[in-house]
Amino acid sequence: MNPAPIRIHRPAAGAQVSLAALPPLALYVHLPWCLKKCPYCDFNSHQAPDALPQARYLEALIADLDAALPQVWGRHVCSVFIGGGTPSLFAPESIDRLLADIRARLPLDPGCEITLEANPGTFERERFHAYRAAGVTRLSVGVQSFDDRLLARIGRVHDGAQARAALAEAREAFGTFNLDLMYALPGQSLAQLEADLDIALGFAPPHLSIYHLTIEPNTAYAKAPPALPDDDAASDMLDLITARTAAAGLARYEVSAFARPGQRCVHNLNYWRFGDYLGLGAGAHGKLSFADRIVRQVRWREPAMYIERALAGKAVSSEREITAVELPGEYMMNALRLAEGFEPARFCERTGQSIAAIDGALRQAEQRGLIERDGERWRPTVRGFDFLNDLQALFL
Ligand SMILES: C[S@@+](CC[C@H](N)C(=O)[O-])C[C@H]1O[C@@H](n2cnc3c(N)ncnc32)[C@H](O)[C@@H]1O
Ligand code: SF4
Repeated sequence: MNPAPIRIHRPAAGAQVSLAALPPLALYVHLPWCLKKCPYCDFNSHQAPDALPQARYLEALIADLDAALPQVWGRHVCSVFIGGGTPSLFAPESIDRLLADIRARLPLDPGCEITLEANPGTFERERFHAYRAAGVTRLSVGVQSFDDRLLARIGRVHDGAQARAALAEAREAFGTFNLDLMYALPGQSLAQLEADLDIALGFAPPHLSIYHLTIEPNTAYAKAPPALPDDDAASDMLDLITARTAAAGLARYEVSAFARPGQRCVHNLNYWRFGDYLGLGAGAHGKLSFADRIVRQVRWREPAMYIERALAGKAVSSEREITAVELPGEYMMNALRLAEGFEPARFCERTGQSIAAIDGALRQAEQRGLIERDGERWRPTVRGFDFLNDLQALFL
């Protein structure tokens, strides 16, 4: 393999970025293999080889971290998210070693949230307890549906019984867990969604993520799209989801995320509040702030290439500075996903700019009933959440 040199994009001379304080820093670690590629998935996930190169990949991750340390010197970490792919393909001993190697290099906040994504198709009874013993505090279980026919139709490797067994074990082994569902699946009826919600809520999940299935470019579904519920049916489904989750005590704190009090995901909240994150692993994205610039990074995407480059201390495949002109839009794309919205002081802290930069767009959004002011805070209205794309577009 002969990789191209790293691409570094610097903005043309213009308004300078200047930050008085750095935001919280989170750590994302990407494990890029799955048992089988799902036809709707555009994540950087690859079918696992017979022998997963766990030890070598861990070496590459730590070489990647070592090379990145000067960029986060003196900072501490508010959350760790081990995502994929299917991280639960990795043995608990590997996760234990990974977390020990991270702790030896970066100070984690006391009580730091450490999430690991798990797929019910890789579930073994003792595994979840062993992940907990390794230091994982929160499991995120990718269920999608409990309906065997729908699961088969969307190419999942597990059935409903395996999903239920994995959730029962997650609830038993972890103080807190997340359950991922998708809706508007091919041929799904409102009654089928209701049955999924009944079962999901029966586990009393502290946190629930429910995503509208989207057809992403470069997926098997993009090449051969299945028949999906129409917009009216999908909207009825969302109404059912919001009513049932609210009745179960789960607050919709982000467009697709629902949580009980005190159970919001620290890691994802940090993304939406425009915090920093160091992204390690194949294809991982990162965002890092410095006093005079904010940088986005991407790691080499293909696992073998990533391992080779990371071991050579060159895991980053491209890096670009976010320009001062782009910053308000980028901040708002995230903040408007949150029911809590944002405070002007936080906008200024994270972008280094005055709220005047978005004054016109705020007024327009307010006039159209998409956003409202509550004391110091601006937050999307119910209508703003329903027409989020229109609302976000006003700030771009
Ligand atoms: C990267 S996956 C990780 C979980 C694990 N790999 C799994 O699938 O069980 C995170 C979540 O994104 C959601 N997701 C993935 N592709 C999606 C798509 N095309 N549309 C909507 N949600 C999607 C699924 O709910 C999935 O659980
Ligand atoms: S298991 Fe998850 S990450 Fe892997 S292909 Fe399926 S949706 Fe994508």
